Formats: sequence, structure tokens, C-alpha cells
Amino acid sequence: MKLSAIIDCDPGHDDVMAILLAARTMDLRGITTVHGNASLVDTTRNAQQVVEFADLTSIPIAKGFAHPLARPPRYAPGVHGESGLDGPTLQPPTVPLHPQNAVDFILESSHSIPNLHLLPIGPLTNVAAALSLDPSLPARIKQISLMGGSLTFGNATPAAEFNILCDPEAAHVVFTSGIPIKMIGLNATRQVLATPEYRKRVRSIGSTTSTHVADMLDFYSRGEGGHTGLPGGAMHDPLAVAALIDPDILTFEPMHVAVETNGTYTDGMTLCDGRHLGEDFRAIKPRTRGAEPNAEVAVVADAKRFWELFLDILATYP
Ligand code: RIB
Ligand code: CA
Repeated sequence: MKLSAIIDCDPGHDDVMAILLAARTMDLRGITTVHGNASLVDTTRNAQQVVEFADLTSIPIAKGFAHPLARPPRYAPGVHGESGLDGPTLQPPTVPLHPQNAVDFILESSHSIPNLHLLPIGPLTNVAAALSLDPSLPARIKQISLMGGSLTFGNATPAAEFNILCDPEAAHVVFTSGIPIKMIGLNATRQVLATPEYRKRVRSIGSTTSTHVADMLDFYSRGEGGHTGLPGGAMHDPLAVAALIDPDILTFEPMHVAVETNGTYTDGMTLCDGRHLGEDFRAIKPRTRGAEPNAEVAVVADAKRFWELFLDILATYP
């Protein structure tokens, strides 16, 4: 039985991988777009282009917030390019957008789709706005699986991961909502890279979709790999999907996560209370101190298992 889900995203190269993986392995009921890797206009156009080349145009796309709740937007052209999806040559989109905005779409879906899962893989502005508009929403959301934060270091700053730093106030609303959360942060996603070997296997599939994906991963790996020094871009966003469809890909530890919204050096940090964890970030004793856990935090990722799944799914596209 496929889990019902809405992906909230800022495509974004790795967001595309998440959409392709979710569309085949989940009951993907909608894609909502948000500012983040690029402007809302760009992330929305990019989402339209993906559903068109992957023949997913039956999935509605609803446009969300163009800016964070309380800060100016920040983008990531150094990783994703000026368009937010540089690399492949894609046709201008023709698929129409859903008539509702993202927040109304999420709220209406929460009433009509039982056991709805939310997969925010960009800044959390849309989800936080939906929670603020309708405080009864948590009762209708089965689980949130989000790409964001980190148990260890950031990427946008030494302390903060990009999605959270874009809108810390929104992240605070989500992490204090009471909804069960799986947090897939950089400490886990950096264990799963688009290495040259995997990128070659993607391109060898030889379809239109896999060629676009290979072009995306090559561009993305130059951008993100240039910043990190790692041999490929990290598969951040599709791991938020993997967390819900294959329990053997990621290992989680429950802990309390607080979002810093007023730090001098740590703004946007996800402060994880891991005082009961050992050097391998696995629990070495029962948690006895601090606030009750409000999230399951990913600590280990099985890169090989992820890539075997992703390559199998990618091969099903035109
Ligand atoms: O920090 C990585 C996250 O920021 C990913 O979701 C990527 O797409 C960007 O949004
Ligand atoms: Ca993203």
C-alpha cells in the first residue's frame, strides 16, 4: 500500500530526484513549490518542467511562498545555477499550475486524504504557514519526513543547513507542531553522493529522463562538490523519500531538536540533544536529560541500498 504524500520543494537538482523517486514509490498527490534554491518563479517553472519530461503531468503543482516568514529570501545559484536547475536543456513548460496556492492545497488535501504524509525538502515556509493558518492541521498529518538541518555541521554556515537557515522561524513552527517528524539532515545525506560511478550508471540507462538526470547530477556535483570537496553532490532530498519507503536505508535516533532563530553564530542551527549518543551517534544509554524528543534524526545512511533503489526507479521513466 503506497503512502499518500505531498512533496513541498524548491527544485533544485536534488528536489528533482525526490520527485522522480516519490512518484513511483508513493501515492504522490501533489507537489507544492517554495522559494529556496532559486526564486519561486524559477522553482515552480522547474517543477513544471520535471513533470513534463517525466510524464507526471497528472500530479498537481501548487505554488507557495516567494519569501520566508520574517526574513528576505536567499538563493543558491552557486550550487543550482541561476535557473535553479542548470545543466540539462529543458523545454519551456506548458502544464498549467493548480488553481489553489500551496497552503490552501495542503490544508484542503489534509481534509480529503487520510494518513497524509508531508515531505518538505526546501525551506519550511509553506508548511509553517499552513500550521499557523489552521492549528488543527497536526491531527490530520500522519508524519513529516523533511530534508533539513544537521546533527553536526551546516552547509550554508558552520552551524546551519540551507533549508532551515532560509526560514528558521518557519522551522521552529514545524518542529514545535507535535507532528511526528523524521529529520534527514546533512550528517546523513552527505553519506550518499552522486559519485562519477553512479552518474555513469544513471547516464547508461539511456532514456530522455535519465539523460536529463545525468546532466543535472553532473552540474550539481560540480557545484556542490566544489564547495564540499566531496566526489559528488549529496542526494539530500530523495533521502527524505527513502526514509518513508525503505526503512533499511536510513537509521534514526529520537532526540529533541531546537531551531535557533536568534543566534549570533548559530542562526538556523538545528540543535539536537544527543547527549545519550556515542561516538557513532547511536544511543549508548537511555535518554535521561533534556526535553522529550520531538523528532527522529537520521544518523546513518546506506548509500549502496539507496542507489540500487534509485537506479531501478529511474529506469522506469521515459
Ligand atoms: O541543504 C540542502 C538542501 O538545500 C536541499 O534541499 C537542497 O535542494 C537545498 O534546498
Ligand atoms: Ca531542496
